[in-house]
Amino acid sequence: MKKIGVFTSGGDAPGMNACIRAVVRTALFYQLEVVGIMHGYNGMINNEMIPLYSYSVSNIIQQGGTVLKTARSEAFMTKEGRKKAFDNLQKQGIEGLVAIGGNGTFTGAKIFYEEFGLPIIGCPGTIDNDLYGTDYTIGFDTAVNTAVDAIDKIRDTANAHDRLFFIEVMGRDTGYIALYSGIASGAEIVLIPETLTSIDEVIKILNIGKERKKTSSIVIVAEGDEEGGALEIANKVKEKFNYYSTRVMILGHLQRGGRPTAKDRILASQLGSAAVQGLIQGKKNVMAGVIHQEVVFTPFEECIQKQKTISSNLLSLIDLIR
Ligand code: F6P
Repeated sequence: MKKIGVFTSGGDAPGMNACIRAVVRTALFYQLEVVGIMHGYNGMINNEMIPLYSYSVSNIIQQGGTVLKTARSEAFMTKEGRKKAFDNLQKQGIEGLVAIGGNGTFTGAKIFYEEFGLPIIGCPGTIDNDLYGTDYTIGFDTAVNTAVDAIDKIRDTANAHDRLFFIEVMGRDTGYIALYSGIASGAEIVLIPETLTSIDEVIKILNIGKERKKTSSIVIVAEGDEEGGALEIANKVKEKFNYYSTRVMILGHLQRGGRPTAKDRILASQLGSAAVQGLIQGKKNVMAGVIHQEVVFTPFEECIQKQKTISSNLLSLIDLIR
């Protein structure tokens, strides 16, 4: 293998740049050429490719976002789009790819590999931490820290006004950001899609707090909760419990930006480097992940289909320490 391509795809995540840097520097260490593909799969189709050198990735390890830009590509979902992408990669002489992204990215990568046989290794880059095959995804730790920082600030004003806040965090269909940020910020209640949400139970807990003379409370709602988002749940609770005045806050895309934490930078560096080494060793159609501090490669198929289980210990912790 002489030349590889690297791209970021799907929702951006803090640490993607650290991963790109590790891919480029490791590839150069092993005397491979590296091409950066802009805007994810769209860049393959539209031939937006640039050579990357050591200096191209200087001073990016600490930056959020992605210097290669990203997109959710509709064109790549068509056979015609994928054929165009493959032809363009061939013209560039690219013999292997490192895909940095989440579920959608790896679904595309799997189909692409099956159709054209071009070796691809994935690095899990998503704030959602929803990928099987790795304990943590790149960007999750930063997103949790960003959420905690915001929740701490809301706690100040909630306390000052004796208010109840419903704070919605991202996570798509999973509750990882909600659970981790909820524990770290001392939230009274965390509502996530992995467990059944009962409005009556929420009210019961808030009532216990009221009896304990709590003057304010924080409820963290994962955006994918089956009872609805923070606004919907706040309205349902308000119908039956109006002891506190209530406010709703949706943290939104704030959670996707910012300087990656040291933890995310290290994970991204480890995985970016492992992906290149994996390609050199002939691995393909797999995602590089870290499980119990060891790098492991898991087939895309499993990463996409298998569900990562949320820690029941952490779930019960909320009840013990609220
Ligand atoms: O997958 C990352 C994520 O931020 C999810 O948490 C969220 O549901 C989604 O992307 C938002 O996507 P978009 O940026 O396209 O609105």
